[in-house]
Amino acid sequence: MASFLVTGGAGFVGGNFVRSLLRRRDDNVTVLDALTYAANRSTLDSLPRERFRLVEGSVCDEELVHRMVADHDVVVHFAAQSHNDNSLADPAPFVETNLVGTFRILEAVRRHERRYHHVSTDEVYGDLAVDQARFTEASPYAPSSPYSATKAGSDHLVRAWVRSYGIRATISNCSNNYGPFQHVEKFIPRQITNLIDGVRPVLYGSGDNVRDWIHVDDHTDAVLAIIERGRIGETYLIGADGERSNREVIELILAAMRRPVDAYDLVADRPGHDLRYAIDWSKLRDELGWRPRHGDFARGLQETISWYRDNESWWRPTKAATEARYASE
Ligand code: NAD
Ligand code: DAU
Repeated sequence: MASFLVTGGAGFVGGNFVRSLLRRRDDNVTVLDALTYAANRSTLDSLPRERFRLVEGSVCDEELVHRMVADHDVVVHFAAQSHNDNSLADPAPFVETNLVGTFRILEAVRRHERRYHHVSTDEVYGDLAVDQARFTEASPYAPSSPYSATKAGSDHLVRAWVRSYGIRATISNCSNNYGPFQHVEKFIPRQITNLIDGVRPVLYGSGDNVRDWIHVDDHTDAVLAIIERGRIGETYLIGADGERSNREVIELILAAMRRPVDAYDLVADRPGHDLRYAIDWSKLRDELGWRPRHGDFARGLQETISWYRDNESWWRPTKAATEARYASE
């Protein structure tokens, strides 16, 4: 049995990771989360109290981070400012949390010699042309947005701490997640909840941008496989062969919610909008024997729509403020 420190565990992917970890293993888990606008404490409701604890605090708080890292065996770092549109409006918190916060964690991991897993994104590789081969672990870093640049920088810090200080770390870079407990600022939950509210979905630009969708349970499952069986110092790409244009996704959502498939609007494009992401996850398959279990995207989307219909009390308190922020940008 081990003790896990999970940063950002009150957010979307971290929250799903903690729920799954406590179901699957007997470990103790502490979440360290600053409880920003992106957090939702109720994601962590009904977890076993004797094995789970939530500590409110920032990964930038040096003294707190040292204390918490010292008290645990494994550190899994999800905490981040995660939304591209916000990073374009105000990059400062992205530099602070994603770069300085990761630096603080790495220094504590180095001092206390703990096992570390760094959760990152495929966006560090920039974007692909429509006919270009998928990202691999050898793809060059070429981030486009303030968000992806700070995540790329955080990956470089981890790599340097592995090489120069010999910390026991692994890195994963995953594609776009969807599923329950995702903040309504993100594309899929934003459109589902807009439709529930009778508002037409909006597509940025032409709607032809492609994302490689993976169910969040497959992401968290892969992260656990890397922690359990990954080689120290290695990077693993996580994906599930889920390439879809934004237009295809919105048409699937509209059909599943019994609306005309053309009942959406095209709006101004996101500045610097990456065209396409696509992940070659063969290293994860060949080395660790991992495979995604939620490959049926249409079915996963239908289940996600049902989840947002059934859990309005989870997302409703943040919906109006999110749309007000979009309207002001
Ligand atoms: P999220 O925005 O839903 O959650 C982030 C969490 O981090 C929130 O609970 C927030 O309160 C917390 N946080 C923010 N700043 C903090 C700070 N200074 N100290 C402590 N906690 C802080 O994000 P997410 O979508 O769950 O993403 C989690 C991680 O997974 C990020 O590192 C992101 O880069 C990575 N990732 C996400 C996706 C995706 O599609 N969602 C894909 C690949 C990688
Ligand atoms: O690729 C992994 C990344 O996926 C993660 O690292 C990020 O944390 C996560 O936010 C996500 O980034 P994206 O920018 O791809 O996700 P987002 O949900 O913001 O947008 C998905 C696509 O949909 C993107 O092409 C922009 C578009 N979009 C988004 C919104 C919110 C729209 O067309 N309309 C919208 O209203």
